[in-house]
Amino acid sequence: MAEWVEVAQLGELPPGTMKRVDLAGRRFLLANADGQLYAVDDLCSHEEVSLYLGCLEGDTVKCSLHGSRFSLKSGLPLDEPATEPINTYPVKVTAERIYLLAKSPN
Ligand code: FES
Repeated sequence: MAEWVEVAQLGELPPGTMKRVDLAGRRFLLANADGQLYAVDDLCSHEEVSLYLGCLEGDTVKCSLHGSRFSLKSGLPLDEPATEPINTYPVKVTAERIYLLAKSPN
């Protein structure tokens, strides 16, 4: 069953930064895009490369290997070569702490 899990302090993730989170062997990417928090899969859907190694561009994350950008809102790829979306996850902030709802992929 999915549960909210504390993954960071809000102060660790200022606008324009990302953080990689490991939860029970699954890796997630937390991102603060101009004050809006997002959580997505850390792995690119094209090849198994960490998106944490890429860069944040507005509300997208750009893969460092072949340059596909993914929407942090929808997980959809915006450029080739990636054609498959990445999963997105709900995030909430309570008392300056960031929580992630790490539901299982379908
Ligand atoms: S590995 Fe990410 S775009 Fe190719």
